[in-house]
Amino acid sequence: MPNETLTSDIAEIRSSYVRDRFAFVPSVKMVRIVQALGATDEDLDRLTMVSDALEGDPTLPFRRTRTGRFGFDPVAMEVRRLEFQPFMLSTEDDFVRHDSGKVRIFDEIRDDLQLNTALQALFVFKFMVFDGMKVEHRPKLDYDGDRWVCTLLNVRTVTDGDLIGEPALEGVHSDGVDHTMTTYLGSANMTEESAVTFLHEMDEVNGTRWHDTNPELTRARAQHRDFLDTCLIVDHELKHSVSTLYAADPERPATRDLLAFLTRRPVAGGHHSQAFDSPAPHPAMPMTVPLRALDETARVS
Ligand SMILES: [Fe+2]
Repeated sequence: MPNETLTSDIAEIRSSYVRDRFAFVPSVKMVRIVQALGATDEDLDRLTMVSDALEGDPTLPFRRTRTGRFGFDPVAMEVRRLEFQPFMLSTEDDFVRHDSGKVRIFDEIRDDLQLNTALQALFVFKFMVFDGMKVEHRPKLDYDGDRWVCTLLNVRTVTDGDLIGEPALEGVHSDGVDHTMTTYLGSANMTEESAVTFLHEMDEVNGTRWHDTNPELTRARAQHRDFLDTCLIVDHELKHSVSTLYAADPERPATRDLLAFLTRRPVAGGHHSQAFDSPAPHPAMPMTVPLRALDETARVS
């Protein structure tokens, strides 16, 4: 794809993200973009299967999860893997669940995912969309520097027998960051009406189940159905919820695989993740990818 097409595709997504505070990018466009950013056909194929290697989750029985920390460095114009740190979301992040405020230790994302050129292209894409954009500030984050911290979650939700998979058991919530991006990798045996994402005004009550929300406070709905369908959300300006994963054939398990890129400024004093916010590179699984920026002329902010 010519460079101008890539630039105009991303500029269009960026301007709708700036205007609406969320954006949904369908599969066909997303595949075209990541290919233009270096994703190979082999790696696109591999990405559809990478979630098969997930094993467990520290707090949710119907989920299999790996996480990794990555740092966007706009001065060096690189994104790099950062060292392992525990993970925590709290009620201060608008995240109300039985494990709010609990230190969670996930299995680590490995080279099979982080060295995948399609995954690397998704990082570059995300940066091109949000770089330089003004958002509502979260308390206790440091907006004075250049750096961004991105926790990548590779998640498989499973519905199997009596175990009902909830892509967002927490109901209405935020992810405790500035920019959330979710990219769909695939599913098996999932019904048509499963796993719909709803976006809510900030006045919606945290923890409300998706089916109990106030329609007047629901801004939009979106559903990830096709490989690489991607949703971007300004996380401190819109809350979200996700409906249940139902099995089409109840005799067989249903699965839904997703990547979530949770990107925020580094923490400042008094934040609950102050002890878990190291900028040091990962000593055993390094990864560095050059970033690209949208031309100033193609940006609105
Ligand atoms: Fe979320």
